Amino acid sequence: MSTYRIAVYPGDGIGPDVTAEALRVLNSVQGTEPELTLEFEHLDWGYRRWEQTGRVVPDDFLEILKPVNAILLGAVGWPEKISDHLTLAPLVAIRQTFDQYACVRPARLYPGVPSVLAGKGTDDIDFVVIRENSEGEYVNNGGRLRRGQPDEVAVQTALHTRRGIERILRYGYAMARTRRSKLTMITKSNAMGYGYVLWDEILEELSAEFSDVESERQHCDAAAMNLVRRPESFDVIVASNLFGDLLTDLGGVIGGGLGLAASTNTNPERAFPSMFEPVHGSAPDIAGKGIANPIAAILSAAMMLDHLGHRESGQRIRGAVERALADGCHTPDLGGTLTTEQVGEAVVERL
Ligand code: NAI
Ligand code: MG
Repeated sequence: MSTYRIAVYPGDGIGPDVTAEALRVLNSVQGTEPELTLEFEHLDWGYRRWEQTGRVVPDDFLEILKPVNAILLGAVGWPEKISDHLTLAPLVAIRQTFDQYACVRPARLYPGVPSVLAGKGTDDIDFVVIRENSEGEYVNNGGRLRRGQPDEVAVQTALHTRRGIERILRYGYAMARTRRSKLTMITKSNAMGYGYVLWDEILEELSAEFSDVESERQHCDAAAMNLVRRPESFDVIVASNLFGDLLTDLGGVIGGGLGLAASTNTNPERAFPSMFEPVHGSAPDIAGKGIANPIAAILSAAMMLDHLGHRESGQRIRGAVERALADGCHTPDLGGTLTTEQVGEAVVERL
């Protein structure tokens, strides 16, 4: 029997609502699988805690999280009351300290969900974007000179390391082997001749080792067009931090929208806990109305089970989600009338 400690950080806005449904589904799964035990540790972090204590998270939050097996996050942010950089800072610290360098975002259009792409349906849209999450363009590296002067200068330098590129590509190849054995690497090496040429060279080296996987590279601008034009030609996409950020938003909308888009922040070596969260934020505009779509959070929980080595349980959840969506169990973002809770219940009924 396997017992896992799961830190649950519901957060703000719709975060607690969608997390409650993810927990409902996880509890139902572990109730029927004697070999799986999840021990949830609930964290009351976020905007409310900040209101009471002046801190979003306790000072030792990283030490609290380090021993757990996984972190399940809802969403954080309450921009009307507290600046986003304060609420989001602990998330950035978690991703960096725990070396969660692989951000995995599947884009799969489920039956019953309308496609934003004319003429493309469920058979055409099933790819995964893996975003390099630890370096690239988002390393805070640069400086500013002559502030406020007409000749003011800002320099921001991206960081691409052999180690960082190689490990994300290896992770992508491993995933491609469990899917349709195709990997597309996204760069812009025609215009940025240092960092992205290194990406090209490392892909070339690794493609020989992973000769059973079809390796392809595209420039980011072409990839943006091709994802719309022929999404069926993609299986696993590996992209740098910036391009992955852009393409996961595109992938999210192609896959049915924010209410369905799940995400991981994975440390593949399992030296640290990984974090599982919907792509969406705290959606203050619909918070408290009970109409947030919980599917993105539920699918993120399914990916948590995959990561813990319980892929069959993850598949069970995805199967139940698929049947619920096909049966028209939709919240208003998908054109339906069900509440957050009703969709959670509909998934549990179909497990
Ligand atoms: P958002 O993702 O919260 O909302 C964007 C739009 O999508 C809104 O109209 C919202 O109602 C809708 N939406 C989002 N999730 C939905 C769901 N599950 N069901 C139905 N509709 C849904 O992005 P926004 O409004 O830009 O940001 C709100 C707050 O969330 C900000 O404080 C932002 O910083 C934070 N945020 C936090 C993230 C995280 O916790 N990882 C990620 C993105 C934003
Ligand atoms: Mg983004």
